[in-house]
Amino acid sequence: MRKNIVAGNWKMNCSLSEGKKLASEVINMVQDEIKSDTQVILIPPFIHLTSIQSLIGSSAQVSLGAQNCSQHAKGAYTGEVSAEMLISAGATSVILGHSERREYFNESDELLADKVKFALENSLTPIFCCGEKLEVREAGNHEQLVGAQINQALFGLSEDEIQKVVIAYEPVWAIGTGVTASADQAQEMHAFIRSQITSNYNQEIANSVSILYGGSVKPENAKEIFSQEDVDGGLIGGASLKSRDFTNIIKAFD
Ligand code: 13P
Repeated sequence: MRKNIVAGNWKMNCSLSEGKKLASEVINMVQDEIKSDTQVILIPPFIHLTSIQSLIGSSAQVSLGAQNCSQHAKGAYTGEVSAEMLISAGATSVILGHSERREYFNESDELLADKVKFALENSLTPIFCCGEKLEVREAGNHEQLVGAQINQALFGLSEDEIQKVVIAYEPVWAIGTGVTASADQAQEMHAFIRSQITSNYNQEIANSVSILYGGSVKPENAKEIFSQEDVDGGLIGGASLKSRDFTNIIKAFD
């Protein structure tokens, strides 16, 4: 059965000392206070990966993720980071297709299909992000758009591969805006995504894929959103930068 996951995407925030302090606090709080077996993923900027991994150590509940990776194995790609490097730094998962990468770095679903495949070949768990902009939702085309994103980037994968992917639904209008999708809006889209996996694979596979919600999740709204049947946790931005808030979000599963 699928896992509950709460992942903290630090984006481009935290100096090394700030990041180490934040990670240490979260790791200690998770160890001392969290009762559920929710998987917690810390996703710092690349440059902090090894330092944060040494704080995580061999924790069974907390793991390390990266915010992006190259679709190439190695070579003359200045400024890029490869899947092999991420693994060697201790990462076990990688965010792919975040809306900020799509918007500011022109990442397309075609490129993302390559990245997802490549991450899987290197034993990294892709946390694949999808989600619509406000004008798409207002026009009533959100399911069509998210359906196209997952279809292009994910549904070329084999049955074995798709079960290793985590999907994060992050409506762009809810990211960093303080506007959260209602629990009903989140559930509706998550159920739609799961139904698409069922149609392209089967029900058993659809039930094994964790689908996270992201966009202005806070301690105050986490419980209601995470209690929806098809919501298996969250991808948290701003609130993951405060150890108490992040831990209180994880506690929504206790
Ligand atoms: P916020 O939680 O700050 O809205 O960010 C969500 C997000 O983009 C996580 O990847």
